[in-house]
Amino acid sequence: MDKLPDFKRHRRLRVSAAMRSMVRENHLRPEDFIYPIFVSEGKNVKYEVPSMPGVYQLSLDLLQEEIEEVVRLGIKSVILFGVISDKDEIGSGAFADKGIIQEATRLIKKIAPALLVVADTCLCEYTSHGHCGVIHQHDVDNDESLKLLAKTAVSQARSGADIIAPSNMMDGFVTVIRQALDEAGFQNIPIMSYAVKYASAFYGPFRDAADSTPQFGDRKSYQMDPANREEALREAETDIAEGADFLIVKPTMSYLDIVRDVRNLCHIPVVGYNVSGEYAMVKAAARNGWIDEKKMVMETLLSMKRAGCELIITYFAKDVCKWLKED
Ligand code: PBG
Repeated sequence: MDKLPDFKRHRRLRVSAAMRSMVRENHLRPEDFIYPIFVSEGKNVKYEVPSMPGVYQLSLDLLQEEIEEVVRLGIKSVILFGVISDKDEIGSGAFADKGIIQEATRLIKKIAPALLVVADTCLCEYTSHGHCGVIHQHDVDNDESLKLLAKTAVSQARSGADIIAPSNMMDGFVTVIRQALDEAGFQNIPIMSYAVKYASAFYGPFRDAADSTPQFGDRKSYQMDPANREEALREAETDIAEGADFLIVKPTMSYLDIVRDVRNLCHIPVVGYNVSGEYAMVKAAARNGWIDEKKMVMETLLSMKRAGCELIITYFAKDVCKWLKED
């Protein structure tokens, strides 16, 4: 063929690094990330979670170094999870004034006042049975759990938390927590709702890290069925109507369709939770030399931004910020 027919030349916009960077639609920045930290009771605890290389349970006395590193890397927020051994039926450790998250929050606010502390508001790390609320007749009692959840949120706010992130999937949690925060004078503390949280196998390593595996049954009566899409939109709509300020979709990697649906549905920030199992898979493959970890992580997180996440909760936050500095 001497003369080719006319066609579109998309490669024009890919000819050089400068051209590609000019037309790049999505970016990763340190302020996109919320870094999860597992705070443990005890002293001198720095225990690496076996299924999550690079992630540690840290005691309060070792928190300062970690917080200083996070700040140095440009990360603007952390989300806290508690690890305690003295658990009970109702998860009293979650709303104790001297609870581990309350103490950690006070400490972080002293070390780095500008760093935003997101408090994960749930009972599963503090209940002896490992469920996210109070058990009545072998299931989690919605309304009784809400009362304890509200207490937990207020106690976290009192200790200085900047954002309350309820994750227990009880119906009405945004309404009840909003009212409790307002009554306690915390009108300006936003709620980052785990609006769309699936009953996922991807949480396995987290439950090792937080020691929160349910001692019987599973979480399917409160977390969502991975087969469902419309249900995600119902959950998201409800939480928006109840006054949520951010919506979390969790997990993220296998749920990018849901991220996009939620992004199209509303006008508040959407947060992807790049969960423990997603982290563990990438780390395991990288350790075997089967993938290029840096490229894989950057591509994965970028796909979350592209799908519609304004923010990403990720265990990779520190690694990514280091890589961003290198480039
Ligand atoms: C608490 C909670 C969980 C995660 C975050 N908050 C565990 C669960 O619901 O079982 C999982 C996070 C992760 O896997 O990284 N309810």
